[in-house]
Amino acid sequence: MADLCSHRRTILATLICLTLIGSLLVHWPNLLNTFQRPKPLPKPRPKNNMTILIWYWAFGSKQDIEGDVCKDRFGIPNCILSDDRSLFPKADFIIFHNRELITGHQRLPLHLPRPQNQGWVWFSMESPAHNGNLRPFAGKFNYTMSYRHDADFFTPYGWMAPHSVGRGMTVEDFIPKNKSYLACWIVSNYAARHSRTQVYNRLKQVITVEVYGGAVHRRLDRKHTLPTISHCYFYLAFENSQFQDYITEKLWKNAFVGGAVPVVLGPPCENYEAMIPKDSFIHVDDFKSEEELGQFLKQVAGDRERYASYFRWKLNYTVAQTSNWRVEPQCRICTKLTTLQRPKVYWDLQSWEWK
Ligand SMILES: *[C@@H]1O[C@H](CO)[C@@H](O)[C@H](O)[C@H]1NC(C)=O
Ligand SMILES: *[C@@H]1O[C@H](CO)[C@@H](O)[C@H](O)[C@H]1NC(C)=O
Ligand SMILES: *[C@@H]1O[C@H](CO)[C@@H](O)[C@H](O)[C@H]1NC(C)=O
Ligand SMILES: *[C@@H]1O[C@H](CO)[C@@H](O)[C@H](O)[C@H]1NC(C)=O
Repeated sequence: MADLCSHRRTILATLICLTLIGSLLVHWPNLLNTFQRPKPLPKPRPKNNMTILIWYWAFGSKQDIEGDVCKDRFGIPNCILSDDRSLFPKADFIIFHNRELITGHQRLPLHLPRPQNQGWVWFSMESPAHNGNLRPFAGKFNYTMSYRHDADFFTPYGWMAPHSVGRGMTVEDFIPKNKSYLACWIVSNYAARHSRTQVYNRLKQVITVEVYGGAVHRRLDRKHTLPTISHCYFYLAFENSQFQDYITEKLWKNAFVGGAVPVVLGPPCENYEAMIPKDSFIHVDDFKSEEELGQFLKQVAGDRERYASYFRWKLNYTVAQTSNWRVEPQCRICTKLTTLQRPKVYWDLQSWEWK
């Protein structure tokens, strides 16, 4: 010990120590920086109030948007939704519903001086088969709002929201008790050329299908639709045309909420599986023929356990739907500003639509 603490060594050690401490002090800020994450750049400050302007109402159906509707109904602050055209010069986004444009009932306000930072939004919930010719709109729109996943404002007809059910609930609790019909179908727009019509025509040779709707002069009013479907083992959720992501309220509301197992005709099976649990539906494409599909439906309806397995998802999910598709997605624009590409222009909307 005495050796180590000899005078000379002490002086030397002190010098070395001082040098080390000194250099530490000098370099301390750099060392600190090495271990600290760089500060993120501040986000662009949102304006006090975004203005979303609805140029005209879809299908002429005016909605009540009095007061601070986005905040009051959806908890979205600083978001003014209006249908007052005098707000054009200060609007941040303007929504144009496609149907009225292609029928010529409405026009784009091309005569007005358009602010550079104003976003024009093309809005449609229809599939490309019913959206008409979009070539005249080349270079006019900045954003799209549709049921498609790749739209700037994705507005699905419905989605699965995770939820947990009460203790002791079983699958049986979710199956409507009074099943009296094997398969049901509501069809308002009947056309022989639709694939769904052809599938139906062959399927009805194999099983009985209860058909309702304007097309067969057996209309169901709103009040009776879901209670009627609840009596059916299966509901034919057949889309009017087959396109990626085009999965409508026929699945979400009629089948799922109605309490019948959906037999789907629409985009390919994988597209459904990306949105809903595998064991929640039956896809027409999985069968070689309508004969085989019909036999399968009969067999499942007669096997309680098998049938119940199509309701298992209800233990973990509940179906969510947009409360009002003319108002809610429009308010939700205000929540997507940070992820939006700016500027953006759809130079070829027609090709985007059909890609
Ligand atoms: C934003 O809009 C709301 C609702 O119209 C209004 O109450 C509020 O005063 C506005 N805020 C600003 C800063 O303009
Ligand atoms: C079950 O449904 C059938 C057909 O709609 C109806 O006639 C019958 O009264 C219903 N029974 C019960 C118990 O709800
Ligand atoms: C689904 O819900 C059931 C019943 O509440 C639970 O036992 C099970 O763990 C859940 N499954 C998943 C994947 O969350
Ligand atoms: C919107 O599109 C127009 C072209 O039609 C373009 O001049 C403008 O910069 C675009 N605005 C945004 C916000 O992307």
